[in-house]
Amino acid sequence: MTRHFLRDDDLTPDEQREVLELGMAFREDRFVRAPLAGPQGVAILFDKPTLRTQVSFATGVAELGGFPLVVDGRLAQVGVRESVADVTRVLERQVSAIVWRTFGQERLEEMAAVSTVPVVNALTDGFHPCQILADLLTVAQHRGGLAALPGQRLAYVGDAANNMAASYLLGGVTAGLHVAVAGPEGYLPPADVVARAEEIAAATGGSVTVTTDVHAAVAGADVVAADTWVSMGDEDEAAERLAALDAYRVDVALMSGAKDDAIFLHCLPAYRGKEVTAEVIDGPASVVWDEAENRLHAQKALLTWLLEHR
Ligand code: NVA
Repeated sequence: MTRHFLRDDDLTPDEQREVLELGMAFREDRFVRAPLAGPQGVAILFDKPTLRTQVSFATGVAELGGFPLVVDGRLAQVGVRESVADVTRVLERQVSAIVWRTFGQERLEEMAAVSTVPVVNALTDGFHPCQILADLLTVAQHRGGLAALPGQRLAYVGDAANNMAASYLLGGVTAGLHVAVAGPEGYLPPADVVARAEEIAAATGGSVTVTTDVHAAVAGADVVAADTWVSMGDEDEAAERLAALDAYRVDVALMSGAKDDAIFLHCLPAYRGKEVTAEVIDGPASVVWDEAENRLHAQKALLTWLLEHR
């Protein structure tokens, strides 16, 4: 059966661990495996802007021995010029995997329902699961390896209704983390995501906290994370969002409530002076460049794992 990675909980805790172990191996030796030798093609489609995701998937596919085909969504017009299902049927005859950044999660689900090759979520409105794999690798890198992940306290602050918050909740508890997300009323995660995260946490020893109290969320945290307050597609609401989220900025004062050696994560792009101050993101706690590099290792690991579990 073809495996897909549409949301963080598509991998069980054991499976996520296998992917992360492989990610560590790729960081040690970028050419340790070449599952796409041939070269086999991987289609990488973008319906939204991209920098890190395009470069890390394209580089990753090439380093796995494959050939990346980056498709501009404005040309492909998936679902407009032809249906999601028809696009999928064409692509799966030619490539070994499909990576897609798009809007609604249901578009990705529609693709996965017909695809005989693995489909990977490269960000939707709902989730950004590849980023969380990279973030977990980054936490492991700075906290004594993968064995140190369970029990780490991660606080995500800001727009807690967005894709990153949902993925921190699901992917974090899958790794046994204690995940706290803080945002104002109206910017809190969907109930179904919280319920699913609580279910996973009960099995892994992690926990879930959802709060409007930013200081409570960050108290004693090992890891503090932020994301833009205006996600791709939310630009029309920019002014309203900047006002609503103003008290949820990560600054030095907020970081002082976390552990002394807490690290700071941000998936980027970052807006200094909005969700995070320059002092924090450019300061000693920040590991955001390691985090960006880990996209490459994590995604190579994920693609390798998916190709080996067909
Ligand atoms: N929440 C952000 C993440 C960017 C990588 C967005 O969806 O735009």
